[in-house]
Amino acid sequence: MEGIEGTGKSTHTAYLAGWLAQQGQQVVTAREPGGTPLGERLRAILLDPGLGSMPPLAEALLMFAARSASIKEVILPALERGAWVVCDRFVESSYAYQAYGRGIPIEHVQTLDRQIVGARRPDLTVVLDAPPELGLSRKADSGNRDRFEQESLQFFERARSGYLQRARAGGARFRIVDASRPLEEVRRELARIASQLLEDASG
Ligand code: TYD
Repeated sequence: MEGIEGTGKSTHTAYLAGWLAQQGQQVVTAREPGGTPLGERLRAILLDPGLGSMPPLAEALLMFAARSASIKEVILPALERGAWVVCDRFVESSYAYQAYGRGIPIEHVQTLDRQIVGARRPDLTVVLDAPPELGLSRKADSGNRDRFEQESLQFFERARSGYLQRARAGGARFRIVDASRPLEEVRRELARIASQLLEDASG
């Protein structure tokens, strides 16, 4: 599950995991950066507003370091047990934020992607899409913004457009879902997409 701030990613990740469990599927959820002891420590560093800026490549390396722990400790063991894994953010976040948002060469992200994620790809990548104004306005009154939430509207515009470009070029595994609609409508669409996924997996 991917998307910029305020698109309801965490809520929809929980919904999708719950929906799969209701269908009798085994489900594990993961989140990035985080979800492992190393990942959660790296998350604290990555989100710390007190740190201010960080060299963009260092930021990318820390994201992938957290990801490698999540893959090894959470994702692969779950897949081996035959469970579905629903990730609140995965490698598309590194393309959207570090390449399109921060401006590091996309080749650097591709290299890390090949090294850390490798050939195994998500069966489905949902990009929850909404204008950045929507998400930022939801966070505007919450005093403690993290290091990313302090970024400019332009930064999130770039990240959003990165998600959309990659999703449009990435083929059938990507689904762009309009997340500016009422929650219930988004849920219905996610349930439709997920039933198709189950059908494809059993067929
Ligand atoms: P997250 O907790 O999902 O934030 P939110 O729920 O507010 O959307 O992710 C934390 C931040 O980390 C988020 O601002 C996006 C950023 N991020 C990257 O820049 N690159 C990455 O590869 C990942 C996984 C996250």
